Amino acid sequence: MRLGVLVSGSGSNLQALIEQVHGRAATIAGVCSSNPEAFALERARRAGIDAAVFALAAHGGGSERRDAAMADWLDERGVELVVCAGFLGVLTTGFLERFPARVINLHPSLLPAFPGAHAIEDAYAAGVAETGVTVHLVDEVLDGGPVVAQTRVPVNYDESPEGLRSRIHAAEHRLLPAVVESVARGALDLDDIARKART
Ligand code: GRF
Repeated sequence: MRLGVLVSGSGSNLQALIEQVHGRAATIAGVCSSNPEAFALERARRAGIDAAVFALAAHGGGSERRDAAMADWLDERGVELVVCAGFLGVLTTGFLERFPARVINLHPSLLPAFPGAHAIEDAYAAGVAETGVTVHLVDEVLDGGPVVAQTRVPVNYDESPEGLRSRIHAAEHRLLPAVVESVARGALDLDDIARKART
C-alpha cells in the first residue's frame, strides 16, 4: 500500500512510520508539509522519501486550491492512504472526496474528549484519570470523524504535563504504525468503519 503523510511540524510520528512501516507493510510515497520550516521535511529527505511544501500562502491563501494541488501530487505518486501526522488545519471537502474513507488523523486524546490544538494540556487541567491517543477517519469537522483505534494513557498528577506529553507521544508512536500496518495488510477495513458510522 502506498502512503501519503501530511505533516506540519517535528514529524516524530512520520519517523515512527518510516522506522516501523516504510518498506515493510507499506511504502511512504510522499510527504506533504503545510510548513516550509517543518523538521519533518528533513526526516523525509534523510529517508529518501519525496517531499513537498503545500503552504497556504503559496496558493493565494486558498485552502481549496492548496488542497487540490496536494491531492494531485499525491495521486501522481499512487497514494492509496493519506495519514495526517501532526498536520495543522482542516482538509477541504474537495480533498476528502478524492480519497473517500482513506484519510486518517492522529490526535493526542481519547476523542471525542478534548478535540483541538491543546488536547494534552486540556486533559491534564480537567483532572481526568486517563486520556490517550486516537486514530480516526477525517471528515470536515476538526478532530471529528469515526474512531479507528484508541490507546488509553493514565494521567499521573505527581508528574508534570511534560511527563504526560512524552508518554502520550510514545503511545502515538506505537498506535499509528500499528493502525497503518493493519490497514495495509487488510486486517482493518476503513470502508466498514465509515459505513457503520453512517448507519
Ligand atoms: C501529535 O501529538 C499528533 O497527535 C498531533 O500533532 C502531534 C504531531 O507530532 N496531531 P509530530 O510532528 O509527529 O512529532
